[in-house]
Amino acid sequence: MASNIVSVVGGRAAQDAPADRLTSTNPSRLTDVVAEVTLASPATFAAACAAAKQAQPSWGDIPAPVRGKAIAAMGRIVEDNKQALARLVTRELGKPYAEALGEVQEIIDTCDFFLGEGRRLYGQTVPSEMPDKQLFTFRVPVGSVAVVTAGNFPVAVPSWYLVPALVTGNTVVWKPAEYAAASALALFELLQAAGLPEGVLNIVFADGTATFGGLEQALQAGTLDKIGFTGSTAVGARIGELAGRHLQSPCLELGGKNPMVITPSADLGLAVEGALFSGFGTAGQRCTSLGTVIVHESIHDEFLARFSAAVSAAAVGDPAQNVVYGPMLDQKFATGFEEYLGWIQPHHKILGSSGIGKISGTNPRVGFVGDPEAGLFYHPVIVDGVQARDALFRQETFGPIVGVLTYRDLGEAITLANAPGYGLSSSIYTNDPREVFQFRRGVSAGMVSVNNSTSGAEAHLPFGGNGKSGNGSRQSGIWVLDQFTRWQAMNWDYSGRLQKAQMDVTELTADLNYRLTT
Ligand code: UN1
Repeated sequence: MASNIVSVVGGRAAQDAPADRLTSTNPSRLTDVVAEVTLASPATFAAACAAAKQAQPSWGDIPAPVRGKAIAAMGRIVEDNKQALARLVTRELGKPYAEALGEVQEIIDTCDFFLGEGRRLYGQTVPSEMPDKQLFTFRVPVGSVAVVTAGNFPVAVPSWYLVPALVTGNTVVWKPAEYAAASALALFELLQAAGLPEGVLNIVFADGTATFGGLEQALQAGTLDKIGFTGSTAVGARIGELAGRHLQSPCLELGGKNPMVITPSADLGLAVEGALFSGFGTAGQRCTSLGTVIVHESIHDEFLARFSAAVSAAAVGDPAQNVVYGPMLDQKFATGFEEYLGWIQPHHKILGSSGIGKISGTNPRVGFVGDPEAGLFYHPVIVDGVQARDALFRQETFGPIVGVLTYRDLGEAITLANAPGYGLSSSIYTNDPREVFQFRRGVSAGMVSVNNSTSGAEAHLPFGGNGKSGNGSRQSGIWVLDQFTRWQAMNWDYSGRLQKAQMDVTELTADLNYRLTT
């Protein structure tokens, strides 16, 4: 049954007369309509920011340990609804159920990490250079935060923003991906059930243009203090530009062209398993998905034979069953993927499936699980013989496609790993510690896996990238606290007189010419 979904602003349904409508469908069964969504106008988005701004001072006044208890309650509520939320994610986005359960677990992990932050939110006491004076630092909430997220992780990645933003005393306007509206509303309801006052967490369903317009209006009105954005590099650059005009630095989590280097000392079986999971898990629609395998020339043929056999044998299809991957998230991603397939050139060699493009009755995939005609299913593609000047090598290709090329020495592999200019995740398979550290030092990525795939970051390590993958901001763990708080420095002079820093400081006399006589 399809639900009717509208934005919730200040605790009330925001029915926006002139706005568009959108249908969120099940990508593995397109006849299954998951939700009818009323899309908001820029004015509604801006109104949500105003509501958040208004609600912020009293939310910030609630003692942090009490806010932490709300986060604890969120974790437990999500845990008790784990299967229901995962089922909805599988239905609306086509994520295999086991992965969807993992995704919900990531929310629980995030809550479990941050519930204690309410009782920490440590500042420092710092000695002064003068007597009878003390220095302190405090973390202060940034204010009202707009969080704009993608639908490939429709609930886990949003929680990386919402949970730390709320525990540190900020209020939030969350704009999820429209095609993930039902999953997003479900998470919103679960978080709201923790007892958040009206206006502390608002959810707005809007398309990209209305969102951008709403952000602009809110920044202009001074009702928005921070933007968090997960999505494409192109949109991230526009958001960065907009925020910069208002002297704000957004938290940006953008695309990736994540390399996997496989050296001669690697355990090839492990590398094949890692490449299969990170290249084709979630149908290659993670920002941490494997982009290009950079394999040493001496083991290329063996790796390719084993990788191609593994990909050809992988179960693809109905995400409710035990498959490596299901459909594309939404028609928009299927269309994008078809464009990337157009980048394949005559010098490339294609492996990994019994066909290429959309899987159907006339273009079947051997061993397909379920009915391919029912949804947006695509053949996995391995492209061997990729060259550094190819679009397939240089650009992110969201979908089940992995390029392969060879290298001669590790320095060259690192240059290739960095060449596309992204810098989110990376991986090296090796049993030589020197290679591990040479790679770690040379690679531009914010995340480095050793003998592990490029995806599957844990919820309490810094997550984020460099270059085209982001502006250096980091999510998760203690590191995200710097996104949602500002440091305030306080000094308190209780000497009863004006003591001037740098000038009224006691000096000790040192004999710098002192030398030992022995
Ligand atoms: C994303 O694709 O936006 O590391 C996030 C991973 C997941 C998160 C991916 N834990 O692959």
